[in-house]
Amino acid sequence: MRIAIIIGATRRESTSAKLSAYIADIMRKEGHEATLFDLREKPLPLYNDDDEEIHPNTAELMDTVLHADAVVLSTPEYHGSLTGVLKNALDYLGKDQFNDKAVLPVSSAGGAVGVSSLTQMQTIVRNMHGVNSPEWISIGGAQRQFQADGTPESQDVRNRVERTVLYFLKFAAKQRA
Ligand SMILES: Cc1cc2nc3c(=O)[nH]c(=O)nc-3n(C[C@H](O)[C@H](O)[C@H](O)COP(=O)(O)O)c2cc1C
Repeated sequence: MRIAIIIGATRRESTSAKLSAYIADIMRKEGHEATLFDLREKPLPLYNDDDEEIHPNTAELMDTVLHADAVVLSTPEYHGSLTGVLKNALDYLGKDQFNDKAVLPVSSAGGAVGVSSLTQMQTIVRNMHGVNSPEWISIGGAQRQFQADGTPESQDVRNRVERTVLYFLKFAAKQRA
């Protein structure tokens, strides 16, 4: 399967970006094609329905998600929600890109669990006619440590992320069928 991973973080040392790269590695080891779309590297203009021209980064995002079989949405938790950059990116997308596709929400939070950003992403996914994975991935507080090679420090986090990604791949394959 082709999986698009949209990273809604802006910090250079972003832990949600590191977690997304780790998720992509697991997917690739399972034989899937995982494409990271990092909104820090490829920023989008603020969505405006009046704009007639499509920015090249926006066109690339729309194309990446359109041709994906499944999608991962990854965000830091900001004020109990997803980041503005991720919400802005999702405003360019909709049913055309998400219809019936499995979507995995991922968050990194200062607190223990980023439940608010995860549930808010699920609300948006539902409105874009995507299909929410019953499992999600959240790291918080002291769990946000990564080794130099991008592997999470905590064995517990590594186990949890791997288990959830494998579950999501099966869920996405069923959804695709
Ligand atoms: C503007 C802002 C708002 C934040 N709001 C929350 C919050 O509501 N709950 C929380 O647990 N952490 C909050 N944090 C902390 C971030 O979620 C946390 O540092 C996260 O790991 C950052 O992700 P990143 O490493 O990908 O940038 C906030 C941070 C910023 C900058």
